[in-house]
Amino acid sequence: MRHYLDHAATTPMHPAALDAMTRQLTVVGNASSLHTSGRAARRVVEESRESIAAALGCRPSEVVFTSGGTESDNLALRGTYASRRDADPRRTRLLVSEVEHHAVLDCAEFLVQHEGAEITWLACDADGRVAPETVRAAILADPGSAALVSVMWANNEVGTVQDIPGIAAMAHELGIPLHTDAVQAFGHVPMDLAAADVELAAVTAHKLGGPVGVGALVVKRDHTLVPLSHGGGQERQVRSGTLDVAGIRGFAVAVEQAMLDRETESIRLAALRDRLVGGAMALGLGIVPGGEWVAGDVTGRLPGSAHLLVPGCEGDSLLYLLDAAGIECSTGSACQAGVPQPSHVLLAMGLTQEQARGALRLSLGRTSTEDDVQAVLSALPAAVERARRAAGTSDTAPTVGAA
Ligand SMILES: Cc1ncc(COP(=O)(O)O)c(C=O)c1O
Repeated sequence: MRHYLDHAATTPMHPAALDAMTRQLTVVGNASSLHTSGRAARRVVEESRESIAAALGCRPSEVVFTSGGTESDNLALRGTYASRRDADPRRTRLLVSEVEHHAVLDCAEFLVQHEGAEITWLACDADGRVAPETVRAAILADPGSAALVSVMWANNEVGTVQDIPGIAAMAHELGIPLHTDAVQAFGHVPMDLAAADVELAAVTAHKLGGPVGVGALVVKRDHTLVPLSHGGGQERQVRSGTLDVAGIRGFAVAVEQAMLDRETESIRLAALRDRLVGGAMALGLGIVPGGEWVAGDVTGRLPGSAHLLVPGCEGDSLLYLLDAAGIECSTGSACQAGVPQPSHVLLAMGLTQEQARGALRLSLGRTSTEDDVQAVLSALPAAVERARRAAGTSDTAPTVGAA
């Protein structure tokens, strides 16, 4: 039997979303066509837009459909960088948190290499959280050069939830637009864009029970973006391309389900997460949680996010050993030229390279059960022992600093 604990990578589609999407796939119609089938497709898109906007707390006209989180992040950064610099050529500075996903990090680096941008890194604390004061100080260092602030709502590795309303208030007061990558947050923690006045927010369907390949960028009405794709002028001229009507319908139904279930699911998942983290710590293997872990907490950390630091191991070895035991999870870190790199998120949180190496991300979702948790706890001792032998550290006393 397989145990899937990688819901932060992608989570199974909700049956209601799958049903709505597959039905829609049987219907022809381009939402830009003027005939009856086209108008019917347009209606599906606009109704979906309305329900996604209601869940986000924004206006329907502010939802720009994209192919997912990566495209939304790229559109937010590149589109805003271009519009802000067009308005004032001194605005070349991107203020980016150190714990962002690569969709933001690599896009910012692209702008440095090709468009003359500079990056001011926003440091985080030991839990991966960026203080609004840090954002304020970074803007005030040279307000005239600041193009955009980018801080994610919730982290994809350690699950830390940021104080986006606080950061947004700070950025607003100083007149600098804020983008938030809300890919991991949407549907999992309370998010209200009406209250947190951000200019831009990236979301994606496949992290909350919708299909892969569809997402949205929320763009505040008065925010100007230079488009990345040019053509038919769909989506307020910001994102040309024929709309994926069935995918958008699946996205909307998944969002509706996620909103209905969010409160009860978050309590259920946090309880499973806590048994997983507490149980792993009690194995006597020196395992500690990565990031802030407060039992029962459903707002400071994503309810389904468990992250373990296993001393004396390579995360990748553990991942393959657990996979062989039927457990599917991830390390959260990237590979460069086939060599596993310690996670930039853990390094930003102050862990050493050594401590960051034995990282395991175990993420829970709608289909997770107590059985999954027990399977991990049963498989960990043997997997850790073998991974330590492979790393030649089985004789050393396992120690990991406070995470
Ligand atoms: C925080 C974050 N941002 C962006 C993305 C990219 O989203 P997508 O897979 O929809 O392109 C991911 C996916 O892992 C993510 O976790």
